[in-house]
Amino acid sequence: MAKAKIAVVGAGLIGLSTAVCISESISGCSVTVIADQFTPNTTSDVAAGVLIPHLDPDTPVHQQKKWFRETFDYLSLICNSSEASEAGIHLISGWQIFKTIPDAKTPFWSDVVLGFRSMTAKELKKFPQHQFGQAFTTLKCDCPPYLLWLEKRLKENGGQVQARKIEDLWELHSDYDIIVNCSGIGSRKLVGDLEIHPIRGQVLKVHAPWVKHFIRDGDGLTYIYPGIHIVTLGGTRQKDDWNLSPDPSTSKNIFDRCCSLEPSLQRAQDIKVRVGLRPSRSAVRLQKEILFRGNEQLLVVHNYGHSGGGFSTHQGTAREATQLVKEYIGTLEMSRFKAKL
Ligand SMILES: Cc1cc2nc3c(=O)[nH]c(=O)nc-3n(C[C@H](O)[C@H](O)[C@H](O)COP(=O)(O)OP(=O)(O)OC[C@H]3O[C@@H](n4cnc5c(N)ncnc54)[C@H](O)[C@@H]3O)c2cc1C
Ligand SMILES: *[C@@H]1O[C@H](CO)[C@@H](O)[C@H](O)[C@H]1NC(C)=O
Ligand SMILES: *[C@@H]1O[C@H](CO)[C@@H](O)[C@H](O)[C@H]1NC(C)=O
Ligand SMILES: *[C@@H]1O[C@H](CO)[C@@H](O)[C@H](O)[C@H]1NC(C)=O
Repeated sequence: MAKAKIAVVGAGLIGLSTAVCISESISGCSVTVIADQFTPNTTSDVAAGVLIPHLDPDTPVHQQKKWFRETFDYLSLICNSSEASEAGIHLISGWQIFKTIPDAKTPFWSDVVLGFRSMTAKELKKFPQHQFGQAFTTLKCDCPPYLLWLEKRLKENGGQVQARKIEDLWELHSDYDIIVNCSGIGSRKLVGDLEIHPIRGQVLKVHAPWVKHFIRDGDGLTYIYPGIHIVTLGGTRQKDDWNLSPDPSTSKNIFDRCCSLEPSLQRAQDIKVRVGLRPSRSAVRLQKEILFRGNEQLLVVHNYGHSGGGFSTHQGTAREATQLVKEYIGTLEMSRFKAKL
């Protein structure tokens, strides 16, 4: 049978990881990633890329845990290989601290990360404003390196990449059999999934190579995440704010909040400001949808709406999207077989 032609819209973390997964697990198909922005200009490039799941209100917890575990285990293998530095994957240890004791002292992901435990009184002495904390080791994906590495793997598997803005997904109808929609916050504008909305995040990327330990305030606002070369300082969570320009007073506020947790950051150098829009939704949209126009149909798999936790779940959702693509290929083969009879 003819090769199935698959277009993946989006070249952020979700699009590239889904495209690589499809190209590795479905033989005899062609995969093309189409996007208007590539690394270093995607939301995924602004993120710190730390694997700490957020609780998605409308996705069952066992599902979120499965996605997290698959992602953590997959990245652990890369981290334990000679590819780790090129892929930008590394282990980091640190503390999540709370001003008031949280309801769940042991979050659902505690047995997926390494060495999860409550902080000792001695560790908590560093944070007089905080009453409780959790210590653990997790993984971090540095972007651009991780996105560049995924793109390289895709090309090694015969996949292609195309820079182009899609106004209407029917544009792809004549050239592709299946469309995978990984357009992040772009999905809102395209045909209007009004459930997806931005949660604006402003961060500072600084040079402070002596900082090796992560610190995250449990309120999710203030965090210090050391990467291989730079430290990401955050942040903000501004619902429905589309403004991509940095705000100087916010930068100062972020810097002060981080310095109060880690005073040595006063000497940080080379401070750059970045803004990204988290593609927020009550649940990730991971499903098939067949669109109709007259007697034509377009086979779509949606994989978007990863909110503030795309790095923590991307490999799990890429596998599930790949499974949905496989189901379509089964029906394509069947209809082509019938057409021949
Ligand atoms: C400040 C900040 C910090 C974060 N920190 C973390 C963290 O530590 N850990 C974590 O797990 N998550 C974090 N996140 C969340 C994470 O960044 C997202 O979940 C993830 O990047 C979403 O990836 P994506 O591929 O869906 O979107 P994007 O990276 O935005 O990619 C979308 C792609 O679709 C393309 N596209 C959209 N519309 C069109 C169109 N019409 N035509 C063509 N192409 C189109 C874009 O060009 C782009 O290539 C953070 C986010 C922010 C903003
Ligand atoms: C990223 O954006 C900048 C500024 O708009 C542009 O000059 C650059 O070519 C873009 N990079 C890529 C890889 O698209
Ligand atoms: C890490 O790599 C070593 C050497 O390749 C291997 O023996 C070991 O089983 C790996 N451990 C894990 C947890 O993957
Ligand atoms: C992505 O999904 C959204 C929501 O259904 C839709 O509006 C948009 O057209 C899709 N975009 C592409 C390029 O598939």
